[in-house]
Amino acid sequence: MDKFVIKGGIPLRGTIRIGGAKNAALPIMAACLLCSSKNTILNIPDMKDVKTMQRLLEHMGAQTQKEGSSLTIDTTDIKNFIAPYELVKTMRASVLVLGPLLARYGFAKVSLPGGCAIGARPINLHLMGLQKMGADIQLESGYVVAKADRLKGAVINFDIPTVTGTENIMMSAVLAKGTTVIENAAMEPEVEDLARCLQSVGAKINGAGQRLIEIEGVDYLKPINMYEIIPDRIQIGTYMTIAGITNGEIVMKGCSIKHLEAVVEKLTNTGIVVQSIQDGIKVKGCEEIRSQDIKTMPYPGFPTDMQAQFMALMTVANGTSVIKENIFENRFMHVAELRRMGADISIDGSVATVRGVKRLKGAPVMATDLRASASLVIAALKAEGQTTIYRIYHLDRGYERMDENLRLLGADIQRLKDDVQV
Ligand code: EPZ
Repeated sequence: MDKFVIKGGIPLRGTIRIGGAKNAALPIMAACLLCSSKNTILNIPDMKDVKTMQRLLEHMGAQTQKEGSSLTIDTTDIKNFIAPYELVKTMRASVLVLGPLLARYGFAKVSLPGGCAIGARPINLHLMGLQKMGADIQLESGYVVAKADRLKGAVINFDIPTVTGTENIMMSAVLAKGTTVIENAAMEPEVEDLARCLQSVGAKINGAGQRLIEIEGVDYLKPINMYEIIPDRIQIGTYMTIAGITNGEIVMKGCSIKHLEAVVEKLTNTGIVVQSIQDGIKVKGCEEIRSQDIKTMPYPGFPTDMQAQFMALMTVANGTSVIKENIFENRFMHVAELRRMGADISIDGSVATVRGVKRLKGAPVMATDLRASASLVIAALKAEGQTTIYRIYHLDRGYERMDENLRLLGADIQRLKDDVQV
């Protein structure tokens, strides 16, 4: 396993390029199962979860090839419709093959994802929707076994606007018989990107990106041909926070502030300066960060995937900030580690109160999940002295070459094997 060793206190300056969104890439890769042919997707990021999804599709009989940020997925010979526990337990988003397999082949056997560091993360809403569309759903030894001769359109109302639940039902409905209406659908940009991709191959979808989505089933879809996915808004927000906390100046190319309105508003209120430029964004930090309260909400609210990163920024803000996590029941795993670096944070249920301190001190800390690990990197870049972050494989799941990017920006960061002494 790898660790990061970071010496903090350096203002980061320079230009980096932001790649495609992990949470757009994963559903669109799964959507390749909807048509037995050679699909090509552009702007696919180089990160672990994408590799895991490739392995899962190959396990089913697909051929995949990644050249730079172009990914080809040939689904001509899909011969097994099983997503095994060994793969699903490493990446919950594997559940996204359930809808396409059922819609295209009428059968899917997908391991229940199980919980993860940030919460129980059930998929009951996914299964409710598929059952409404006529699927026979059985739970057998930790697997969902789903069968359907041909799914039929239905009206599906989600109690909670689930992102991958909306994506799974959308991918089922595009080949179903009749019309499907999703009420209280997730509005995340990645859901909209999936819909746009499906429309490009013949799907009839109205309202994606809104709370009500209407899908008219068709008999077949064309292969995905050179569809370019959207940039990763959470990586963008993370580097904005890094520019802010180190009082540096970072230019990000290949992206825009679109889809980041709530994050940009909060960061701007802290004193950070965010500016749209030609083909990118320029972000300038400031000497004194002002505290800001946040509440995580479904899009277009403040994204839960930016909560840990924003908390790291607030640990050195002037004042006290209150952070309410409304999406996941256990997404404060980074708090204990930030406290080891001198942060003053108290937790009461889903509310964290962060009292800004003058300085953080480097310390050995442990990454627990993807966005918590990003939070520790942000704090380490500010802290006095050296920080070692263990279990950095969590970060590699959703950040593209982060240590390389940070070195480009002037950071003192090393990626070492766990057993290497520094
Ligand atoms: C997606 O997860 C993202 N993952 C997550 O990103 C993100 O944090 C999350 O949406 C919220 O925005 C991908 O897109 C691959 P949900 P998802 O279903 O779809 C409850 C990251 O860091 N729920 O929108 O699994 C659930 O427990 C990852 O990149 C049910 O109760 O999240 C949660 O409290 C982490 N039953 C809430 O809804 C269900 O059937 C929102 O979850 C489904 C969800």
